[in-house]
Amino acid sequence: MPRTQTFIAAAAMLLSVARADTITITAKADNTFEPNNVQADEGDMVEFRFARGNHSVVTGLYEFPCAPLDMGSGFFSGFVDTTDDEADKLFRVRINNTEPIAFYSSVDGQCADGMVGMINADDDHTLDDYRSRAEAVASSISPRNGPYGGELDNVNDSNEDGDDSNDNMDDEENDNSSGNGNGNGDDNGNGNAAGALGAPAAGLIMASLGFAALLL
Ligand SMILES: *[C@@H]1O[C@H](CO)[C@@H](O)[C@H](O)[C@H]1NC(C)=O
Ligand SMILES: *[C@@H]1O[C@H](CO)[C@@H](O)[C@H](O)[C@H]1NC(C)=O
Ligand SMILES: *[C@@H]1O[C@H](CO)[C@@H](O)[C@H](O)[C@H]1NC(C)=O
Ligand SMILES: *[C@@H]1O[C@H](CO)[C@@H](O)[C@H](O)[C@H]1NC(C)=O
Repeated sequence: MPRTQTFIAAAAMLLSVARADTITITAKADNTFEPNNVQADEGDMVEFRFARGNHSVVTGLYEFPCAPLDMGSGFFSGFVDTTDDEADKLFRVRINNTEPIAFYSSVDGQCADGMVGMINADDDHTLDDYRSRAEAVASSISPRNGPYGGELDNVNDSNEDGDDSNDNMDDEENDNSSGNGNGNGDDNGNGNAAGALGAPAAGLIMASLGFAALLL
């Protein structure tokens, strides 16, 4: 039933596109994140915007506030510095699971001053706990490398309302997830089409091979 399967694949793609939300968090001029406590599902995108000032966003070790996760995990936007109301760069991160993620700005004393936030806080990992321990930290740590774990993008290239979903789809195509989604859709579509045409064709080929074998 190729049509049914193609329909299901198409419906699944639509569902997965519709389900992914974009959550915007702004690094504000008063050195806070707004909002600073969000819930996100797997597949959602978090977009960090940057208001006036010099800010960054880094995934932090929950146990050691203002220190980054080990190399190779989490994300870092690099420093985004602007004298405008809003920087022309945004930093977009894909949420891969619902584990708690602590994040902070690593510029100077901003983390200790409360420029921290949580994604998917739970009973054992709360914003209040992370922030109050951050206040006791003398200095924050910036990762040494440039941005990683997300995409630094241009605000107005990526976020006109009409283009938003397309852009997200394009971006996700570069990662696995919607690449997989598209791959499955294509595979099913092509596979079924090929199957429908392919089975008789294969039979013909087998038959002619058999015929050829008989001739030999
Ligand atoms: C993006 O475009 C809007 C509308 O043209 C403009 O008001 C805003 O300042 C622009 N933002 C940046 C960061 O360039
Ligand atoms: C932003 O802050 C970082 C960390 O203190 C610093 O290395 C960088 O030079 C600052 N950027 C600007 C433009 O001041
Ligand atoms: C999710 O996975 C992507 C691809 O591996 C990675 O770039 C991104 O930083 C991950 N997201 C988080 C929140 O760690
Ligand atoms: C990409 O795929 C790999 C392997 O399947 C997986 O470990 C990783 O978490 C995926 N990343 C994203 C963004 O889904």
